[in-house]
Order: sequence, then C-alpha cells, then structure tokens
Amino acid sequence: MRIDVVTIFPDYLAPLDLSLPGKARDKGLLQVAVHDLRQWTTDRHHTVDDTPYGGGAGMVMKPEPWGRALDAVATGATIVFTTPSGEPFTQALAHELSGHEHLVFACGRYEGIDQRVVEHAATIGTVREVSLGDYVVNGGEVAALAITEAVVRLLPGFMGNAESLVEESHADGLLEYPVYTKPASWEGREVPDVLLSGDHARIAAWRREQAERRTAARRPDLLPATGAVRGLADLDVR
Ligand code: ADE
Repeated sequence: MRIDVVTIFPDYLAPLDLSLPGKARDKGLLQVAVHDLRQWTTDRHHTVDDTPYGGGAGMVMKPEPWGRALDAVATGATIVFTTPSGEPFTQALAHELSGHEHLVFACGRYEGIDQRVVEHAATIGTVREVSLGDYVVNGGEVAALAITEAVVRLLPGFMGNAESLVEESHADGLLEYPVYTKPASWEGREVPDVLLSGDHARIAAWRREQAERRTAARRPDLLPATGAVRGLADLDVR
C-alpha cells in the first residue's frame, strides 16, 4: 500500500515514522509520503485560505493549491477527505480501505476545503469524505493518523498474531469482553473463576455474554433492533 498525506502541517504527521506505520514500512508493506500543501501555492505568501462566499465565520481552503496537489499525487488513488461532515469511520471502512493500493489523505483545516476540490478529485480518483466521529477537532491531520493506524494494522502480513484481529472490539460487531492477566488476586480483586477453569467452552460462553452486556450498556446502537442477540431482555445491562 502507498499512502500520501497532503496537509499544511507536515510535522503533525511525524508519528507515521514511528510505531505501527513505521513497522509496516520496515516490513515493506507500506510506503508513506507527507506533502506540504503550500508547495502548490504560487503567491509570495503561500496563501491556502480565503473568506467564504456567502459570508460567515472562518476561512475556507482555496481550490487552486488543492487542485494542483491532487493532480500531482492522487491520480487513480482513493482520496480520503477528512472532515466532520463525512461518513463515520468504522472498522468496516478500515477493512475496505486496507484493500486499496493507494490512499491519499487530504487534510482540511479551518472551515473546510472549497467543495469544487472534492468534485475535481472525483474525476481523477475515488473520493471518500470520512469523519472520525461526531465532534470537531482542529484539522484533518488527527483523523488521517487514526485512519492510517486502523488501516495499516489490517494489511495482510502485518499482524504477527492474526487471532487478536478476530477477537478485538468491533470484529464481530460487539465490543470486546473484559480481559485479565496475572496475578489472579490483586488488592482484594479476583479474576472471574471461569477464566481459571480451563473449560474453553464455558470461557467462550462467558466472554460472549460479557461482550453482549457491554455492548447493550454502552453501544445499544450496535445491536440488532430486535434485541435478538441471545435474548437481550434477559440481560441485566446496568
Ligand atoms: N476535522 C475536524 N474534525 C474532524 C472529524 N471529526 N473527523 C475528521 N476530520 C475532522
């Protein structure tokens, strides 16, 4: 996979050299390049924004530098515009993006990027407008980092232990069950007996029930509307 990031804050993407994406690069699974949008400006002040047509607060990112940037790095790519008005980023979308050969992140700042850039991008590549969640951060860089990390760990050959991908939160549509490690007793708190039993079927059933309880309590929106998961009415979800 190749990932290009276009941003006015290239330093913000420094973590891509570290930890997980860094490891993927070392393994030859990933190539990354970060580009400063201002290199595609033509004026002395390297202007990237201007006031919004129609009025209103804040500034809008100008189309010309973005157009030139995307023409230079994004032809044929999946172009991800990170924006709070995008579709929510999910594990399902992470899986989908992990199958794409070339991702380009266009990181917006201020009130966003001139909409004609998105239209233009759709003529040279495949556009996704993606949000990290229902809150606003100062720019798309944090979203590009989060999406990259979620995608890269799914690249075939990246995870040493593919099992952990199967069992983690969201893999089966539920939140993950609680986990414990040694010691079995800590400050008067005991690990649930079932986990020490060696009975794999009972352990699997306990974990499933815990995952369902947790999901019902914290994320009921993830459960089927019927509440049909193992008779939710029977679960004490408080
Ligand atoms: N830029 C600002 N807020 C954002 C969000 N929630 N998701 C993606 N990009 C953003």
